[in-house]
Amino acid sequence: MPQISEPITSRITALRKQLDYHNYLYYVLDAPEISDAEYDTLFRQLQELERQHPELDSSLSPTHRIGGAVARGFKPVTHSLPMLSLNNAFSEDEVAAFDQRVSEALGNAKTEYAVEPKFDGLAISLLYINGEFVSGATRGDGDTGEDVSANLRTVRAIPLRLFTEHPPERLEVRGEVVMLKRDFETLNAKQLALEGKPFANPRNAAAGSLRQLNPAITAKRRLHFFAYGIGQCTGWQLPLTHAEIMNQLATWHFPVTDMRQVVTGIDGLLSFYHRTAALRAQLPFDIDGVVYKVNVITQQQKLGFVSRAPRFALAHKFPAEEASTCLVSIEIQVGRTGALTPVAHLEPVVVGGVTVTHATLHNADEIQRKNLKIGDWVIVRRAGDVIPEIVSVVLSRRPIDAQDFVMPKRCPVCGSHVVRLPGEAIARCTGGLFCPAQRKQALWHFASRRAMYIDGLGDKLIEQLVDRGLVHDPADLYTLTATQLEVLPRMGEKSARNIVTAIAHSRQTTLARLVYALGIRHVGEQTAKDLAQQFGSLSMLMSADEPALLAIPDVGPAVACAVREFFAEVHNRTVIDKLLAAGISYPAPTAEKHMGLAGKTFVLTGSLTGMSRDQARAAIEAYGGKVVGSVSKNTDYVVTGDAPGSKLQQAHAFNITVLDETQYLKLLEQASGEFNA
Ligand code: IVH
Repeated sequence: MPQISEPITSRITALRKQLDYHNYLYYVLDAPEISDAEYDTLFRQLQELERQHPELDSSLSPTHRIGGAVARGFKPVTHSLPMLSLNNAFSEDEVAAFDQRVSEALGNAKTEYAVEPKFDGLAISLLYINGEFVSGATRGDGDTGEDVSANLRTVRAIPLRLFTEHPPERLEVRGEVVMLKRDFETLNAKQLALEGKPFANPRNAAAGSLRQLNPAITAKRRLHFFAYGIGQCTGWQLPLTHAEIMNQLATWHFPVTDMRQVVTGIDGLLSFYHRTAALRAQLPFDIDGVVYKVNVITQQQKLGFVSRAPRFALAHKFPAEEASTCLVSIEIQVGRTGALTPVAHLEPVVVGGVTVTHATLHNADEIQRKNLKIGDWVIVRRAGDVIPEIVSVVLSRRPIDAQDFVMPKRCPVCGSHVVRLPGEAIARCTGGLFCPAQRKQALWHFASRRAMYIDGLGDKLIEQLVDRGLVHDPADLYTLTATQLEVLPRMGEKSARNIVTAIAHSRQTTLARLVYALGIRHVGEQTAKDLAQQFGSLSMLMSADEPALLAIPDVGPAVACAVREFFAEVHNRTVIDKLLAAGISYPAPTAEKHMGLAGKTFVLTGSLTGMSRDQARAAIEAYGGKVVGSVSKNTDYVVTGDAPGSKLQQAHAFNITVLDETQYLKLLEQASGEFNA
């Protein structure tokens, strides 16, 4: 083994420390000191050094936060101290009774409590030995959980090392993994764009993500963590109160909520409850109540436990956001791509302070799985801002005339045939843009803020324009006049003029927005950006063949096929011609973005298993790299597949970096900035 020079070891250590620190500033304190680009540069430097010196790799390196090998299952882990549950209270009387019991047992006039929000996620335990993260497990049944260490390592808010020179020998940190509401929204939007099933709420999304066998997926799901206590701790003198333990956790760089407080007596408890309830909707994460804990540790010990819950703590839960009501009917909504979505119409009911009249049902299978019939009595849940859903049916209250739901054979809007392809959960209207429902949705999408951004062109106006036959396709928007608009109900002269101006302004756009606006199936905003970046013009994209499309990282067969099909369709080409004739234009692509391989020269040899030679070349070129036929001293990388030719020997002779297929894919991923996504 070659001698490793000291400077490299210390450079690697220094980079890891720096990255850990910036990670902490960004994910725990939400106060970054450097730009994403600067962070990326440090990250890549470390990755490169670790690649060159695999013997210096460490599971604690921040580079491992992007997820490692796929697991076959999770090992069971026995917690050294069981993970208990909390007794719940739903009323102020129950809280008063708790405070009275505690104060009497302790002989206190007024007891001091540490209070904090009750995070709605899933409990985990993290084990640190001599300050280094060793493993982490789910709560499981409280005694035995599952080892999800590889996934937890990807959670950036969890420190891989305690920030101290003098760590405890052995420390278990207990806390909750949650998904922030905004990350949940993004994830569900992605799930829907790929026509996967959306998660019901952030907690389910967090649980699903933490139990992924592929840690790289967990890494992309962006989980967050809050520490709320300590399990076993040896070789370290713990402070005397819970509040100080929380401060100590913060000093070690764990994320702890800044909503934590110390209060006294029942008044203190209840006023914290009401203050927190008032903040609930604005918080970036879901909470389902507050937790009260006797602050002084010796007092906690004196109170002890009853069965599986401590006597010294209480969860004061917010009222359940569930209610029961009648499922009056199931209507069908037709989406932009023709997907028929059943929507439940409910007898209006107040859930968590909001009147609910509709709930999504996703698809016919879901209705069957939940065993729903029209006329049933159902339990409805509303989680935060999420669309309400039906949790279950109350079978004991099923009326004898309850009706089965049948997916219609014809589109309720345009009468076209409905098809459900084998293997797909979604039934679709085959009417395409002939179907006014699809046309309206397509127009709405076209005009939306992230697409062509036509301010003022909302769904009501689109409805009128389509129903009156003024607009058939997006290109028709550009021929509308203020005089045509003025005569519409609720439309004055001024707003008509404003809309015509907004439509005119939208002509100057970007290729990515235009591609996204076309509403091609499976092509969300990011894919549209990738396509625009790769092809630079609409005509190049329209003539791209499948291999060229597949060469783009993240473009799989479904996307490639959808793009090809879209442009093969004559009426889509007609609309595009009309749009261009109407003066839609976009600037030529900038060379800056995703040019991670700029200036790098590649030679390919041997056959790759995952892609053709052409695809490999297109992918390199997409990121600004160049592919040449022969190896020279100017070559940066030689990519080898199966049965490489003499180019491999030449590479060795010139001392050129040789990449196998996996390393090559990794490099592409880095070049696309994907590792940071
Ligand atoms: S302390 C002895 N504090 O609530 C139990 N738990 O029903 C110590 N939870 O499984 C738990 N936020 O996942 C504690 N601030 C908080 C919490 C919290 C959420 C969860 C935890 C536990 C469940 C107990």
